[in-house]
Amino acid sequence: MIKRYEEWADTLIEKIREKMAWVSEKNKDKIPYQTDAEGNYDDRSNPSVNWNQDDGLSWWTNGFWGGIQWLLYQDTGEERYAEIARLSEEKLEKCFQSFYGLHHDVGFMYMPTAVADWRLTGRADSRRTGLHAANLLAGRFNPAGRFIRAWNDTWDDTKGWAIIDCMMNLSLLYWASEETGDPRFRQIAMLHADTARENFIRPDGSVCHIVEFDPETGKMVRSLGGQGYGEGSSWTRGQGWAVYGFMISYLHTKEQKYLDTAKKVADYCLENIPDSGIIPVDFRQPAEPAWEDSCGACVMAGGLLELAGCLPEGERERYEDAAVKILRAIGESRADFGRGCDAIVQNCSSAYHVQVHHENMSYADYFFMEAVYKVKGTGQFMW
Ligand code: GLY
Repeated sequence: MIKRYEEWADTLIEKIREKMAWVSEKNKDKIPYQTDAEGNYDDRSNPSVNWNQDDGLSWWTNGFWGGIQWLLYQDTGEERYAEIARLSEEKLEKCFQSFYGLHHDVGFMYMPTAVADWRLTGRADSRRTGLHAANLLAGRFNPAGRFIRAWNDTWDDTKGWAIIDCMMNLSLLYWASEETGDPRFRQIAMLHADTARENFIRPDGSVCHIVEFDPETGKMVRSLGGQGYGEGSSWTRGQGWAVYGFMISYLHTKEQKYLDTAKKVADYCLENIPDSGIIPVDFRQPAEPAWEDSCGACVMAGGLLELAGCLPEGERERYEDAAVKILRAIGESRADFGRGCDAIVQNCSSAYHVQVHHENMSYADYFFMEAVYKVKGTGQFMW
């Protein structure tokens, strides 16, 4: 708990509890991603609205609704939230059968659902689901390049593509080794983390989104701008994934190099966070249009708080202050706690070069809630 921000966190937690009580009940049978024009959540588990029949249920954010419910369960102790979370968990098990839609984001899908359930309640079926997902993730490892392949060949040949976001998914591998005593999962995670340190993190602490390797030789081919402004830019959500992701590697391995990398990226973020605390889509985007990304903001705040938690007094405060500055900006001017919209966090952008910016996305709510609970010192560590 960060004592000097406790009162602020308490006020927000009250608002979160009040809003999420009715939002959860209203949407309990869904796996929401975004709201429609009327503020009602969609359902990414409904085949009739999925953009691709195979991939729909495997949509990378489909674990976060369950994760939100487990956060609420831990906060309130109310069984109804566990019941809603389990509905997501049961649906996501079906992805193993369809298989083709699955990708490296099985970490995002199964850590906040099955693994959270196992950790919180000891449900044996959930452990099995988590281990199954970990084996699928390990199976994406390319030994020549020592990286985990991100996506399938849906729109391009992506056999050699790795992305910074994967640092979060490594948690599933660390967990699987801790759970089974088999070091292979952790070994793969660390090899990938080392490749990411060498190839994604620039000397100034900014981060590439996508790096392409030759899948046969493992040699680095090029970096791509991905969801950011362009090649050589600094997609803020990627910065957040890097801080948080390297912290996950540090927390599970206690290897100093991962803490140092998280700190290096965090220091770069601190130099670039605007005074307003509002986070742009890319730290290197033009001043106009001033596209924002509240998802990236919440992820970054979560990573900074994990980093702060591992630093001694005197060093940690600047990261705590930066995280709270970001969360305060969201809470004061980018959050909707009213009845007109199912989502709390507004002004999210999936990428810089998309038609529609400033939408809501359920995983922003997840990372916002998770970060506020971190400030309060409660909540399940999901990663
Ligand atoms: N992991 C995909 C994204 O951050 O949009």
